[in-house]
Amino acid sequence: MPQPLTMRDRLVVALDLPGGREALAMASRLQGRVGLFKVGLELFSAEGPAFVRELSRWGPVFLDLKFHDIPTTVGRAVERLLDLDPRLVNVHAQGGSAMLGAAAEAVQKHRTGGGRTELLAVTVLTSLDAAALEETGHQGDPARLALRLARLAKNAGCDGVVCSAQEAGVIREACGDAFWRLTPVIRPLGASSQDQARVVDPAQAIRAGSTWLVVGRPITHAADPEAAAEEILRQMEGAG
Ligand code: C5P
Repeated sequence: MPQPLTMRDRLVVALDLPGGREALAMASRLQGRVGLFKVGLELFSAEGPAFVRELSRWGPVFLDLKFHDIPTTVGRAVERLLDLDPRLVNVHAQGGSAMLGAAAEAVQKHRTGGGRTELLAVTVLTSLDAAALEETGHQGDPARLALRLARLAKNAGCDGVVCSAQEAGVIREACGDAFWRLTPVIRPLGASSQDQARVVDPAQAIRAGSTWLVVGRPITHAADPEAAAEEILRQMEGAG
């Protein structure tokens, strides 16, 4: 398992850009300055696996595609993604233990063959508040559900979770430090929060127990993306 992670390894840039050409241009600028390039559903749907292969020339990739389907389908779809040897892939923890187990089995087989991919489970989307969760049959507060899903994911063989920085500490305590926490909604000190609520700054996220910090627009929309990435890294290192 690729350990230990440097602070730079832990900085993930979300390449939420209009198309592959723009994303590759940004990746070439940020090469070596960030740990991972995150490809979401929009970019993957537009550009597909060939683009991911090209992007991988600039650095390791996190395929943030959040699969959620029957176990066989998810297991096979994850196997196809593993052909691209991404550093991280993810699925929804809400898919249940059999689905998580099918994804984990595929990833473990890939690693046995020399692959480097690790599997994260999405706990609760931060866009869902208690009222939205109740609509879908979940009672109680989102943080408790996130912890429950993190435990489920760990028992099913996942390597970590996607969660909010606010939940990272509790999940680390319950599941152990080697069960990774990847947290979005990070904003450097002084930056606009844009459309995000409850933002956390880079040092706060490190202190809260985040393993990987996802930052999008504060880097990709900056006048100087290289300098923005370096400043975020400096703030992460300032966590002490
Ligand atoms: O530009 P920004 O830093 O807000 O981008 C955040 C990235 O993290 C986006 O790719 C978004 O889809 C993702 N994300 C998020 N909030 C969540 C989960 C994922 O913003 N709760």
